[in-house]
Amino acid sequence: MVAKTIPVDPFDLIIIGATGDLARRKILPGLFRRMCAGQMPETAKVIGASRGELDDAGFRDFVKDALKEFAGDTAKDSKSVAQFLEMLEYVSLDVFGDTGWKELKSKLRPDMIHAVYFSVGPSLFGEIARKLSGHGITDEHSRIVVEKPFGHDLETAKALNAELRACFDEHQIYRIDHYLGKETVQNLMAVRFGNALFEPLWNAQHVDHVQITVAETVSVEGRGGYYDKSGAMRDMVQNHLMQLLCLSAMEPPSKYGADAVRDEKLKVIRALEPVAPSEVVRGQYSAGRDMASYVEHAEDPESKTESFIAMKVKVANWRWASTPFYLRTGKRLRGRMSEIAIVFKDPPHSIFEGDFNRKGNVLVIRLQPDEGITMRVTIKEPGPGGMRLTEVPLDMSFADALGDQVSVMPDAYERLIMDVIRGDQTLFMRGDEVEAAWAWVDPIIEAWQEAGSRPVPYDPGGSGPDDSLMLLHKDGRRWREIKP
Ligand code: BG6
Repeated sequence: MVAKTIPVDPFDLIIIGATGDLARRKILPGLFRRMCAGQMPETAKVIGASRGELDDAGFRDFVKDALKEFAGDTAKDSKSVAQFLEMLEYVSLDVFGDTGWKELKSKLRPDMIHAVYFSVGPSLFGEIARKLSGHGITDEHSRIVVEKPFGHDLETAKALNAELRACFDEHQIYRIDHYLGKETVQNLMAVRFGNALFEPLWNAQHVDHVQITVAETVSVEGRGGYYDKSGAMRDMVQNHLMQLLCLSAMEPPSKYGADAVRDEKLKVIRALEPVAPSEVVRGQYSAGRDMASYVEHAEDPESKTESFIAMKVKVANWRWASTPFYLRTGKRLRGRMSEIAIVFKDPPHSIFEGDFNRKGNVLVIRLQPDEGITMRVTIKEPGPGGMRLTEVPLDMSFADALGDQVSVMPDAYERLIMDVIRGDQTLFMRGDEVEAAWAWVDPIIEAWQEAGSRPVPYDPGGSGPDDSLMLLHKDGRRWREIKP
């Protein structure tokens, strides 16, 4: 298989918050890698803007360091680095004042695609949107990119949407959920809708249940302040896991296009049943393995915020009634493992002795690590010895399929930024989708708050609290193992 790179049209991209962490770690190294892959045209311009009093040379030094740290081996090619730095300019900007806005406008070239990346906290979105349109920096052709968290609840998300829509049309707003930029997440759509094989089975009649796991080994150290106001529910479930759930559960869209796909995802969110407190397990990691506990990282000994969540979710529609979706995510777990597992029902009747074939097929879509797809099937054990059945995986890993090319595959941010330039919103969240997700999540969080409930402690390096195992055990099921 050969990866194919289609260059995008020339563009001017403004990054507001260009000296912040996201820009340093993801956006700028991502653009650099796209340039090296030949996707970014030589005439592209990236204008960094932030409060800092830097000049172009100072910003280029900053980016050079960022590339060294975060762009991997590609940054060893000094010629490419120099070429990328040439594309950069810098404007010192006061979001609440007048400094910098005129200069920013003067840097934009006519007849180019113009995009502005808001790499700042959501409290600044409204002001930046007003300044951009007020100073004529953006017009009806410009695109803006905003990051999560998109609101803290339904009310704040609605307010943010209203502020952005006062200056921009929905088709100009690109709300990033970086999970949608992951290769395998898109592959989920390819597997489902590019094959005639799976779709007839993709329903409550044949699927016993679905497990969506996003397990992380990292703690919240260094970002406890942000995280403690958010927790796993707001930080991961409302957005990333919700997107994975939507893509797994949605009806086939009429075409692969922004509104067709997002309409179908929205229908899934609207079909979600309210979740009973008994079907949610919240956990908080304890100290262990030479590491501090969650409450120490959050610097609040009384914190009731969860670093782990497991829940049973029901999609109340014709396709999924009676097939539960189990979601699970947490920090400080045994391994970094993200996957969607479609667990099919057992064969209805066994013609073989023993209960070998009582294991249903499982289709696993692995997001990370080692992106790929596995189908577990039952076969006869080779050789003599009677009719003994065993399970084998039919395995496709992208690393095997693409070989060396896998290293040039764009990461989620790279892909999404290129989609902004291409004007393709398919992998971005629409405003109504975000609001619907909050409308489902809010009552769950409010119920915890009203009850004053505390997450249960769990040991670091494991699979989360035992209660989360019980969540499936009581339904006669078990979680797939989180491997180190
Ligand atoms: C971010 C969350 O959106 O996603 C983090 O804020 C989380 O808490 C991260 O660690 C996970 O992303 P990935 O791509 O490493 O799985």
